Amino acid sequence: MPGRDLLQIPGPSNVPARVLTALARPTLDHRGPEFAEIAKRALAGLKRLVGTTGALVLYPASGTGAWEAALVNTLSPGDKVLFYETGHFARVWAQLAARLGYACQTIEGDWRSGTRADAIAEALAADTGHAIRAVAVLHNETSTGAVSDIAAVRRALDAAGHPALLLVDTISSLGSVPYGHDALGADVTVGGSQKGLMLPPGLSFNAISERALAAHSAARTPRAYWDWSAMLEGAERGSFPFTPASNLVVALAEALTMLLDEEGMDAVYARHRRLADAARAAVDAWGLEQQCNVPSERSDVLTAVRLPAGYEADALRATILARFGVSLGNGLGRLAGPVFRIGHLGDLNETMLTGTLSAVEMGLRLHQVPLADSGMPAALERLCADV
Ligand SMILES: Cc1ncc(COP(=O)(O)O)c(C=O)c1O
Repeated sequence: MPGRDLLQIPGPSNVPARVLTALARPTLDHRGPEFAEIAKRALAGLKRLVGTTGALVLYPASGTGAWEAALVNTLSPGDKVLFYETGHFARVWAQLAARLGYACQTIEGDWRSGTRADAIAEALAADTGHAIRAVAVLHNETSTGAVSDIAAVRRALDAAGHPALLLVDTISSLGSVPYGHDALGADVTVGGSQKGLMLPPGLSFNAISERALAAHSAARTPRAYWDWSAMLEGAERGSFPFTPASNLVVALAEALTMLLDEEGMDAVYARHRRLADAARAAVDAWGLEQQCNVPSERSDVLTAVRLPAGYEADALRATILARFGVSLGNGLGRLAGPVFRIGHLGDLNETMLTGTLSAVEMGLRLHQVPLADSGMPAALERLCADV
């Protein structure tokens, strides 16, 4: 097909040309002085973005690895973890914890909204013996496009006087939705490279509070590759206990320069908000339903759209890819069938977004999905209103 394809899944996201160039640098000696300097710069930048002055360990792994690391470093076999099931990814994290042998208590969400802090408060109040050792929540649920109020979860823990650690997955929010590990009182923040950080998959991390470090000293889950101790021992020197994903670390330093020092995070977050607002305006104008049905919790990272009964999201996505060269996200878990997801995160501008929305609208027309109206005028109006 002539022209360029658009990758508009909610991660992995588009990688800017400058970051690709950084990735293409000849591989450095990962024990040499130049790499150590770059790694220190990348780790310092990542801490700024996560909002912490504390410890942070960076793994050559996808986000799932950092999920596992957060658990095995803070818990002992059989410990109880409270999960809130906002959607597919919260469910998969809980399943992983169960496979590791932890006792999982899950609060069932409706997969249409963020974490309900009052439900967490209730569960904590019922746990008078403090059996729950950790509360695990997602900042952004990538399967539904719902953002959770992490400050409200922190307040629920504090109000209950409950000592459980707060573990937060920011894999799909970091760099796209404001977040602050220290300010929010998170104990472990889990993040990954392939979404708002504008890198390919392959890096993930844990940001770690003092309380989590103390829990780590007492935690008895066997761990080796994921052990924070060895990672932290060399971190200040830009040194890793095993071979880091060195080309990705070089690219991380470049991406963080672009985000933190050049565009600036206020502008990055405002750009995500503006583009997301335009996507939501198009969906509303089409007369289609958004999976997240609480407007204030709708994510600036992606919009999950529900098709009316009788229409198949995967068939629509296949048409849009084959005819217009645009990749969209599929419906995950129980949302497979009616839901598709438009990613609007990372290295994205108005032209890419409106191209994407046009392709979606053309696909909807080809599939004869009943639409209230064109979504494009509403999207363009939203984008021009901010100029
Ligand atoms: C919110 C969230 N958590 C966890 C994961 C799993 O991360 P990975 O696929 O990088 O292992 C994803 C992946 O998309 C995600 O969106």
